[in-house]
This record gives sequence, C-alpha cells and structure tokens, in this order.
Amino acid sequence: MKVLIVGCGGREHALAWKCAASPRVAQVLVAPGNAGTAAEPKVRNVEVAAEDIPALVALARSERVELTIIGPEAPLVAGIVDEFAAGGLRCFGPRRAPARLEGSKAFAKDFLRRHNIPTAASSTFTRDTFDPDYVRRQRTPIVVKASGLAAGKGVVIAESVTEAIATAEAMFAGQFGAAGREVVIEEFLSGEEASFIVMTDGTHVVPLASSQDHKRRDDGDRGPNTGGMGAYSPAPVVTPEMHARIMREVIEPTIRGLAADGTPYTGFLYAGIMVAADGTPNVLEFNCRFGDPETQPILMRLESDLTVLCAAALEGRLNTVAAQWDSRAALGVVMAAAGYPDKVRKGDVIEGLEQAARLPGKVFHAGTRLESGRVLTDGGRVLCAVGLGSSVTDARREAYALVESIHWPGARYRHDIGYRAVQRER
Ligand code: AMP
Ligand code: GLY
Repeated sequence: MKVLIVGCGGREHALAWKCAASPRVAQVLVAPGNAGTAAEPKVRNVEVAAEDIPALVALARSERVELTIIGPEAPLVAGIVDEFAAGGLRCFGPRRAPARLEGSKAFAKDFLRRHNIPTAASSTFTRDTFDPDYVRRQRTPIVVKASGLAAGKGVVIAESVTEAIATAEAMFAGQFGAAGREVVIEEFLSGEEASFIVMTDGTHVVPLASSQDHKRRDDGDRGPNTGGMGAYSPAPVVTPEMHARIMREVIEPTIRGLAADGTPYTGFLYAGIMVAADGTPNVLEFNCRFGDPETQPILMRLESDLTVLCAAALEGRLNTVAAQWDSRAALGVVMAAAGYPDKVRKGDVIEGLEQAARLPGKVFHAGTRLESGRVLTDGGRVLCAVGLGSSVTDARREAYALVESIHWPGARYRHDIGYRAVQRER
C-alpha cells in the first residue's frame, strides 16, 4: 500500500522511515518532506505544503493513498482529518473538535477541570476581562500562556508580577497574533517533566514508550524555550507505578471525557506531564500529535509495524494489537542553526553526513533541503542524531558520536541531553 506523511520535520522523517520499513508498504509519500526523506529508500517527496488541505486531499486521491499520517498540529487543528474523512480517505489523527485540546489552551484547561484531571490552577482572560489584580494576588514565578498555537513559543515563566502583566498585555496586543486573543495565567509547578504519548481509537489506548524532552535551548536547562533540543526513551521518571497513575488519572479520563463530550479522539495524543514531588501527574499541556523530537527516539525503539497500529486504530480495534519495544534506550540530540529559536541563518552546507551514515544510530533530518546534490540547512532545528544503547549513557555516547561527525557554520546543540537519566544510572 501507499502511505502519505504530512509535514517536513524530524518527526516526519522518522514516521516516513518507520512506515517504509513495513513489508506492507510499497511507497511512502511525504508532503513536503526534506533532504532526509528524499534520500530514504521507498520514500518520495511531493511538493505540497502541510497546510494546503485541498491539495493534500487531491494528492491522496490521485495517488490512491491508503493511509495518511499527519505530523504537525496546524493542519489537525484546521480540520484536515474531517476533510479527508469527507472524501472517504483514511487519515490518522484527531478531527478538528478534539484537536482543540492543543489548539486552545483555554479549552484544554476547561476540559481538564470539567473532567477532574490533575493540572495547575489557572484563569483565562481576554483583553476585555483581564484583571491585573488577579495576577497581583498570585505567587511568583507565574506562567503566562498564549492560548492558541504559537509554535512552542507562547509560554513565558514570569519571575515577577510586573513581568507577568507586561507579558499578558503584549500577548493581547498581538505578539502572537490571534493565538494571544485569550491568555491563560497559570500557577507555576515544579517537578520533573515527562512526555506521555499514546495511540487511541477513541475507546482503546496503546501507550507508546515513555520519553523526556529538553525544552530549554542551553545546557543545564537554561536559555529560551524551544520546540525541543533532544529527547530520550524510556524516561526513568515514568516508573511502572507512575505509568499506571498517568493512565488512570490522565489518559483514561481524557479519552472517556472526549467521547462523553461527543468529540471522540483518534490519533496520537501527547500529554506533557509534570510529576510533582508527591507523585501527582499534573498535565502541563496536551498535543494532538506525536512529539518532535520525541518521535525520533521512540520510533527507533518500536519493533511493531506502525502502519498496522494505525490501521487498527482507524478500525476501532486497538484492543487487538500491542506495541513491541526494543529493550534498549534511545537518545536523540537536536542540532540547530545559529540563532534558534529566533530568526536563523539558512543555506549553510552540512558536511559529514556520509561519515555519519556509516556509524551506528540514525540521523533524522528536520530543517534541510537539497540543492545541486548538497544538503543545506533550511530551518531552526536542522537534524536529530539518535543513538541506541543498553543504557541511556550508552545511547548518548552513540548519539554524540554522530553529532561530532557533522558540521556546518554556527551549528549548535546541547551537550547534556539525558543528564537526569545518566545521573540515575551512575
Ligand atoms: P506548554 O507548551 O504548555 O507545555 O509549555 C512549555 C513548557 O513550559 C513546558 O514544557 C514546561 O517546561 C513549561 N511550563 C508550562 N507550564 C508550566 C507550569 N504551570 N509550571 C512550570 N512550568 C511550566
Ligand atoms: N517536543 C515537544 C513537542 O513536540 O511539543
């Protein structure tokens, strides 16, 4: 069969690579893809943007695509799955209504409260209802979030009341466009974060391997928030007991609640969890898709056929399948362009990819493009180098060997991905 992957980042490279490995799959199309997907066996890039829903529907129909997997949130929030369904096309992802869990943090907070799922206390404001005195009554630091999609940049941890009020006002004034029309002001939570990602058909759930992302740009969790600078799987903070708690207190009530609200959810569901000192798994955010870069290490460990799992989900029988995992750990290090997460320089030649291809592990491309046979940088997050090992420490060694063999002017990466797990292993 033919599979279509929508998107152009590292997550989509990993999805395409994994689907192409299936004996059931004759060809994988990626719209629009990158230089990495262009080089994968059985994979072909198609120049259609991930936001161009009518063109994607037309592509799936003309190419007789039997399974489409959506990588990024924007087309999901815009309703791509509804459009595919209307055209009789199979597309793995949530419809527009349940995708609001990511598309509107105000909606997500209201949902969490209504269904009694643990999360930080918060209040939602518009420009008209904003009450600076509310902020003055709260403890600092305090978290200010643009409600809509802001590519991971709409969250500010304000150290003072003055900063929090100024941040909210900048959001109302249009700093993040329409995404800042509503602002969620939330209690600051401490603890250790984990990414808990599941596949669901609306009723049944297959949890994927646990993982931990590193959102800050610089070593030691300093610097600005990013889309993610590296991730590894499994995450030791998700012990078997914590896994059971997250399933019982977060995932199951979420899936049941969405169905009860008349908006059943099919697709990948990503819960960003802050595990409090007392073990409470607080939901920081929902994403209506697979994580980036979590997808890269998680799929390196997945032994099952992803297309079989997606087909089972689309047919409402996820209870009949299970995901098998490589017992080894996987760790991915993101290589970013100078300037990330702000404006970055593009068009630098990436050297060393051939040497890296001869080493163990796998380099997934994100912001890259091909020009006259050379691979050029073409975005903020450029590559994600993933290693495998019998421990996170070993996986990390393999990943950094890949990173150190690759060069371009201004390339930067964190040197401490996986440090919490490595400390635990010592
Ligand atoms: P979000 O997009 O809501 O996940 O926020 C991005 C990042 O900001 C999270 O991964 C956390 O590291 C941090 N963050 C968000 N909300 C809170 C909170 N209530 N307390 C502490 N940190 C937070
Ligand atoms: N790595 C965080 C995300 O995908 O949102």
